[in-house]
Amino acid sequence: MQKYTDSDKNIQKAAPCRLIDKLKENRTLTKDDWVRLITGRTPELAEYLFTLAREERHLYYGHDIYIRGLIEFTNYCRNDCLYCGIRKSNTHAARYRLTEDDILSCCRTGYELGFRTFVLQGGEDGYYTDEKMLRLIRQIKKQHPDCALTLSIGEKSYDSYRQYFEAGADRYLLRHETYNVLHYSRLHPPSLTAAKRQECLWRLKEIGYQVGTGFMVGSPYQTAEHLAEDMLFIKELNPQMVGIGPFIVHHDTPFKDQTSGTLELTLFMLGLLRLMLPKVLLPATTALGTIASNGRELGILAGANVVMPNLSPTSVRKDYSLYDNKICTGDEAAECRKSLESRMETIGYRIVTARGDSLNLSERKHLNLGGYNNV
Ligand code: 5AD
Repeated sequence: MQKYTDSDKNIQKAAPCRLIDKLKENRTLTKDDWVRLITGRTPELAEYLFTLAREERHLYYGHDIYIRGLIEFTNYCRNDCLYCGIRKSNTHAARYRLTEDDILSCCRTGYELGFRTFVLQGGEDGYYTDEKMLRLIRQIKKQHPDCALTLSIGEKSYDSYRQYFEAGADRYLLRHETYNVLHYSRLHPPSLTAAKRQECLWRLKEIGYQVGTGFMVGSPYQTAEHLAEDMLFIKELNPQMVGIGPFIVHHDTPFKDQTSGTLELTLFMLGLLRLMLPKVLLPATTALGTIASNGRELGILAGANVVMPNLSPTSVRKDYSLYDNKICTGDEAAECRKSLESRMETIGYRIVTARGDSLNLSERKHLNLGGYNNV
């Protein structure tokens, strides 16, 4: 049997630390290294990672926190994702749609509160035809020409994406959820595929959107290999924003008896993302704030630089229930902004009134539709 001396042990202990240095130097790792780093993480290693991640974000974004006004305008959805509380099969969900006037009024309130980005998020709801969406996009951009408009309304045809962009939409959020084909198929109905999802993302980039993707941490059946593949995919896509949050159980879904993801792993993944793509926009998500009361602050301290408070009318907030115990369901928009402001000040950061465009610019703009069928 091989004997280790004390100094050997130190070398062994330092190995994951060296992987972090390697990540910082090369801005990527091999799949094996990603797995080693993720599985070999310790609290000390995480602290080291977060220190480097904060250095990177301070270099590019200082201590500024960008805010996005989230408007959850419909919780009707034609999809049946197994993890999601607003899945089609959930007959217990109280469905709602905001009218164009409701949405414009959310934007006006948001504008007065200093929001310069609005995110229209909703389920895949056929009621909002392209015609309705285009009208809405034009209205918002006409009333708030100095604001960025982000869409987060799922998978659409190339033509629809292009028309929304031409009407004035600036950004699009579409999480890839998980890169691995098999894992994707265990989280989604057969009508949705990993390949289609990834194809949408490449198309959005091609059209010229600032694109955000992301995944859930600790979703059912997820392994370190899956997370490694997510990191490699994100590196390749090189998006402007990456939204990650813990998977959280929703009691009215097939995953009701599964275990939620952890704060600890989500923070670690945030730190890794910051080191891999130093200029990317990283939100400390609502899901992160839901699994721990100081989750969003810890997210910022792990490298995140965006928060997305809810601007939806309080009357419908509780119904946009993707997972259990979602926070901020009662706060008025103004309270939300105020409370966030003081939370961020406590940890030495400040919310700014700015569009907050990503510094992570795309250097490649070609359609890559063939390379992402990872069987
Ligand atoms: N827990 C955490 N995140 C969820 N999402 C949907 N359902 C859940 C859940 N149960 C995330 C998905 C989706 C985004 C809008 O919300 O990643 O892309």
